[in-house]
Amino acid sequence: MSMVEQNQGREKVFIFDTTLRDGEQSPGASMNMQEKFRLAQQFVKLNVDIIEAGFPIASKGDFSCVKNIADNVRGIQVAGLARCNQKDIDTAWEALKNGENPRIHTFLATSDIHLQHKLKMSREQVLELAVASVKHAAQYTSNIEFSAEDASRSDLDFVCTVFEAVIKAGARVLNFPDTTGYAVPDEFGAKIAYLMSHIPSINKAIISVHCHNDLGLAVANSLAAVKAGARQIECTMNGIGERAGNTAMEEVVMAVRTRADQINVRTDIVTEHIHPTSRMVSTITGMMVQPNKAIVGANAFAHESGIHQDGMLKNRNTYEIMNPCDVGLSTGTLVLGKHSGRHALKDRVATLGYTLKDDELDRVFKRFKEVADVKKDMFDEDLEAIMMDEIFRVPESFELLSLGAMSGSKTLPTSAVLLKVNGEEVKGSALGVGPIDATFRAIANLTGTRSTLLYFAVSSITGGTDAQGEVMVRIEDNGKIVLGQGADPDIVTAAAKAYLNGLNRLEYLKHKG
Ligand code: KIV
Ligand code: ZN
Repeated sequence: MSMVEQNQGREKVFIFDTTLRDGEQSPGASMNMQEKFRLAQQFVKLNVDIIEAGFPIASKGDFSCVKNIADNVRGIQVAGLARCNQKDIDTAWEALKNGENPRIHTFLATSDIHLQHKLKMSREQVLELAVASVKHAAQYTSNIEFSAEDASRSDLDFVCTVFEAVIKAGARVLNFPDTTGYAVPDEFGAKIAYLMSHIPSINKAIISVHCHNDLGLAVANSLAAVKAGARQIECTMNGIGERAGNTAMEEVVMAVRTRADQINVRTDIVTEHIHPTSRMVSTITGMMVQPNKAIVGANAFAHESGIHQDGMLKNRNTYEIMNPCDVGLSTGTLVLGKHSGRHALKDRVATLGYTLKDDELDRVFKRFKEVADVKKDMFDEDLEAIMMDEIFRVPESFELLSLGAMSGSKTLPTSAVLLKVNGEEVKGSALGVGPIDATFRAIANLTGTRSTLLYFAVSSITGGTDAQGEVMVRIEDNGKIVLGQGADPDIVTAAAKAYLNGLNRLEYLKHKG
């Protein structure tokens, strides 16, 4: 059966992506303006219905990101988050107002725990403030979403009262978040069914759900809610987000598609863009996807055991419930080599979801040729690493010009580094426990930075001793945590690049406001 036939007669569930807002709340996953913009464009390709671009009042940087996306991205609704107060709502609207179909998303907690300990407000006051805030937002737009924060731990009749009142005030989407990831599927589904039957004006609005994954149940809870009548799912790519993350978009979308017989709804997601989007999110945020992660993990479609491989050769249905091509999984086959031309590279880059300007393509092509000279097989992952390194970096206060490191069983590890620091060439050397330690010490001295290294990981981007090394670091300075990434066939150089990338991100955050 074709997808068109399968979807006939099924109600649509709206996909609200909050990778750029709740996803960015993952520790160390902060993204800059260009990165958010690039992801927003990718979400358009995925055909997401709404993207939450940020929380405009949170910082000048957040405001500019939301504005940039609302002003320039078309074919998608852009939402901005606002607490229930006039200043937040006015600021959100200021950022959103040039959007094609902007949405104000305002929220207020409804649980007694939040009322007593956080808001210090009575239920009556919360009800009044929610209504006043939605009315205030309604001066600007009719596209208003109201979220009852901590709804799953709130008194359900109180939530019904608030939802009914905010519908009358102009809200068209009522979001029921499981803010703490506390709910379990049967209970969560039953709560949604209760809302559907106890809010008199429910036919004027849709119920949305926003689940956190603290008990690993975010996807299951979202699906239970949909079965009970919810028609918007809030989610993030790769499930990134606050603490244990949010509902993983790729999982919930593929569950709806694969088990339409049970769930009986559809989404409009172009699933073939899932894998490139997942890769883009992990390369931008540095939040690697675990190999056994459903849908987008490296092993999600790998069959290891002999019995399974035998079955697969006889008929793929024996062990495969989804076609890897449906999630846009690259075959992992060799794509380009050192004799490939600029045109082939441009095509491949486009397939991976990237649109490069001519000068950017020139830089990637030059670097591609350099790497292809030392590494004969070039895979998609190699290209992504090159693009991250060459194009998609934060503005660089610190740039690596060259480095030479010495190490061995009888040598004192030393590293000599030449950097550009705010436009000026500086050089220096340091000793260390190993060549990477020596390099990091030299870089810290030359840049005058005092960050703490929290995490360091090296992996090879693809197999073989000629593979590019990819280094990921997490560093902290003054309470700010960032990730840095670098790739190079030489792993000490890859480590230096990752460290400098992290330091540049810290510098960027200092000035972002
Ligand atoms: O988890 C939550 O409750 C939220 C709201 C702001 C929707 O992120
Ligand atoms: Zn959340």
